[in-house]
Amino acid sequence: MKYKKNDIIKIAIDSPAAAGAGTLAKSISKHYNLFYLDTGKIYRFIAHLKLKSKNNFSVSFLKKKIRDLRMIDLKNKKLLSDEVGIEASIISKNKKIRNLVHAFQVNYAYNPPKKYNGSCLDGRDITYKIIPDAEFKFFITANIKTRANRRFKELKKIKKNITFNEVLKSMKKRDKSDYSRKLSPLKKTKDSVLINTTNLSKRACFLKIKKIIDKRLNN
Ligand code: C5P
Repeated sequence: MKYKKNDIIKIAIDSPAAAGAGTLAKSISKHYNLFYLDTGKIYRFIAHLKLKSKNNFSVSFLKKKIRDLRMIDLKNKKLLSDEVGIEASIISKNKKIRNLVHAFQVNYAYNPPKKYNGSCLDGRDITYKIIPDAEFKFFITANIKTRANRRFKELKKIKKNITFNEVLKSMKKRDKSDYSRKLSPLKKTKDSVLINTTNLSKRACFLKIKKIIDKRLNN
C-alpha cells in the first residue's frame, strides 16, 4: 500500500470500555500526526446533557443545544463518571441521536483539519459504519477483570468511595448492552486486527500497532 502525498490515512478502532483503545489511539495519532476523535465522548456529552436536563430532554432539545458539535467541550471531567457512561450506553441506542452524531464523525474522519496526515477514531461502530474503507482497522480488547480494574483506578480519583465490584458490575452491564443492541452493536469485523491488551504494556501495544502500520505503509 503506497501512499501518495495527498492521501490521508484513516485508522478505525472499535473496542469495549477500558480496553486501552483511547490511550493507544492517542499515541498512534501523535506518532503519525493524525486527528484523533474519541467518539465515546460525544455520546457521553449527550448523556450528561440528558442527566442535567432531566424531563426537558428530547432530540429537538438536543439539536438546539448542539447546533455545532465542534463547539462542545469533550474535555469536561464530568463526562468520565460511571453514571454518565451507563447513560451513554442507553442514549446511544437511539437512532435519531446516532444519526446526529454520525455526520459529525464522518466529516472529521474524511476531512480532518489540514495540518494532519489523516484521522484516527475510536468507538463501537467505527470499523464498519463510520469508516468502512479505513486503511487500518483494529479491534482492541482485554479481559473483563483487567478492564474493570483499569476503570476502577481511574474512577477512584474522582469518586473516593467507589468499589471494584460496583465498577465490574456496571462494566458487565455496559458490555452486554453494547454487544447485543440491534443498532450499531460492538463487534469485531473480519478485516480488523485483534489486539488483546490484557498482558501488554502501553508501549508494547503501541509498538505492535506501529509495526502493522509501518509494514503496510512501506510496502
Ligand atoms: O467509549 P466510552 O466508554 O466512553 O463510550 C460510552 C458509551 O457510548 C459506550 O458504552 C457505548 O454505548 C456508546 N458509544 C457508542 N458508539 C460509539 C462510541 C460510544 O455507542 N462510537
